[in-house]
Amino acid sequence: MDMITHPVDPAFKSDILRCFDHQSYAIPARWLYDRQGSELFEQITELPEYYPTRTETTLLENYSEDVANFSGIGRAVIEFGSGSSTKTPHLLRAVQPSAYVPIDISGEFLTASAAQLQTEFPDLPIYPLEADFMRPLRLPDEVADHPKIGFFPGSTIGNMVARTSVDLLRSMRETLGEGAQLLIGFDRIKDPDVLVAAYDDSAGVTAQFSLNLLLRINRELGGDIPVEQFRHVAVWSDLYARIEIYLECVADVRFEVNDKPVQMSKGDKIHIENSHKYGLRDARLMLRAGGWTPVQDWSDTQDYFSLILADARPFKDAP
Ligand code: TRP
Repeated sequence: MDMITHPVDPAFKSDILRCFDHQSYAIPARWLYDRQGSELFEQITELPEYYPTRTETTLLENYSEDVANFSGIGRAVIEFGSGSSTKTPHLLRAVQPSAYVPIDISGEFLTASAAQLQTEFPDLPIYPLEADFMRPLRLPDEVADHPKIGFFPGSTIGNMVARTSVDLLRSMRETLGEGAQLLIGFDRIKDPDVLVAAYDDSAGVTAQFSLNLLLRINRELGGDIPVEQFRHVAVWSDLYARIEIYLECVADVRFEVNDKPVQMSKGDKIHIENSHKYGLRDARLMLRAGGWTPVQDWSDTQDYFSLILADARPFKDAP
């Protein structure tokens, strides 16, 4: 047995224990992304059914120059949740930034991808920032006086409920300041069959990604959850305009997590993710609610995905 164990994140432990305590089974989606999870997610982005990554990357390839026409060149690019920064080069080439600030909660990821990007842009000043971008943050002093453009791709905003999305947009405005711009990706409402397939692919990679959460609980919290008694479920909720992801019990099960006994019944579901989808007007309204004025948008020919550029204008009194 592998005796070298990593310290368990206390927030992970308390979120998991709370889930099984309260019997309103829900686990925050961020716990999906341990090492195995992050690797599986990379695989998801390459699946034929998973259109978002591919579509948004093509939009950036095709329209980054056009974005630069609207935003001007020479701003500092601030990327929220930069991860592996794979979509960023197209934008950087077009907007010729004065500096690049990738922000991510995972420091390890951040350093590696910043180094990678530096080889591609040797003259670009890069200031990685390890931080939780859900709250207003202090940007590096080096970019304090630069005009700024925020970059928030991947429709990550879709993984938040509306109230949280608006909070985040407002806090981004505070971080970036008046006069800043924001380029943000929104996944569009489309045929539910296309949406469900994107979150329940035929090769079963997405199912593996979801079920990895239970394996992680077993690994890190000494659980004995019978993973084969759970199945991955992705459903479209028209009411909330979102894909909801659950792990559903296919039989009555008993197991232990962190020495605490848990019983679940056949049909019980653990809610592990939401992925909201938007009409263009929904997206613009959300931006305005968060203090941003939409100025231009770009979509693919199927309207599967949109990029919106917005301004942080001074607030005016009604009307
Ligand atoms: N941000 C991704 C999305 O909503 C996350 C994701 C893709 C995901 N597939 C998933 C989360 C399956 C949980 C399960 O598109």
